[in-house]
Amino acid sequence: MTDFDGQVILITGASTGIGRAAAIAFREAGARVALAARSADVLARLAEELGGPEWAIAIPSDVSDPVQCERFVAEAAAHFGRVDALVNNAGMVVSGLFEHLQPGDAERQFQVNFFGALYCARAALPHLKAGRGVIVNVSSVAGLIGTPTASVYSASKAAMNAWARALWVELKPAGVDVVTVCPYFTSGVQLAQKGVIREGSLHNRPGKERRAPGTQTAEEAAQAILRATRRRPRIVVLSWAGRLIWRLDRLFPWLVDWIMARGTRRLLEE
Ligand SMILES: NC(=O)c1ccc[n+]([C@@H]2O[C@H](COP(=O)([O-])OP(=O)(O)OC[C@H]3O[C@@H](n4cnc5c(N)ncnc54)[C@H](OP(=O)(O)O)[C@@H]3O)[C@@H](O)[C@H]2O)c1
Repeated sequence: MTDFDGQVILITGASTGIGRAAAIAFREAGARVALAARSADVLARLAEELGGPEWAIAIPSDVSDPVQCERFVAEAAAHFGRVDALVNNAGMVVSGLFEHLQPGDAERQFQVNFFGALYCARAALPHLKAGRGVIVNVSSVAGLIGTPTASVYSASKAAMNAWARALWVELKPAGVDVVTVCPYFTSGVQLAQKGVIREGSLHNRPGKERRAPGTQTAEEAAQAILRATRRRPRIVVLSWAGRLIWRLDRLFPWLVDWIMARGTRRLLEE
């Protein structure tokens, strides 16, 4: 499969997890990739593994800083000469009961997950319009419902989803698509390890790890991102469990909240 031949894909959060898997998958499909994240060494090694400057470049960036987002896009566009897709994947989680969050936690959550995507999209827009490209936002099933003990994470992803819907309408006439990909729980990723963990968190509990039914791998999520970039649906929800929750929530939101309340209470009491 090389249907991304010649295309240039910008991926944020490419140092680990889903973003790293997406960078590898896009390269295997023939694309050239520009990689952003804060871990400069990890990113540089990955760019080398993916074929070096002709095929992959590392541009260390913190997406919570608009200046670094502008520089990321400008350097990528100058290096490769075009931008066909921006994959807004960089993310972190603030985890814990809302009453235990510290001043600045919610702001940091939005700064990375929401504003980071917005800054990159704003910088990439002229290039995407020139090539009728696509913005792919890596959101979460948590953004489709309310997730207890990760309330501001949920809110940051819900904000991303609403922004994407409005942006889709605004950009469609210019031929630019906006796609929302909502992964469910993903195995083998470090999201919580680098996150902000407060009292009441269900993340990082040694000996109490659970693998939720329907958990997908980072590679499966990456393939879904690839398909979404190619086909450009408005929204893709990953895993049978993610889709079940999404559909159930549209019909019976009270039932989903009841299930979440029961499950959260049980896990917090463990
Ligand atoms: N894991 C899940 O179960 C799950 C479920 C649903 C949705 N998602 C979403 O999937 C996306 C990828 O997460 P993941 O699961 O692959 O977790 P991950 O392995 O922790 O990856 C997060 C990536 O974002 C980067 N990042 C974090 N803060 C950044 C910042 N300020 N500036 C630039 N890059 C930053 C990290 O790199 P550096 O630390 O090097 O900067 C890393 O490359 C996230 O948006 C997440 O919300 C994950």
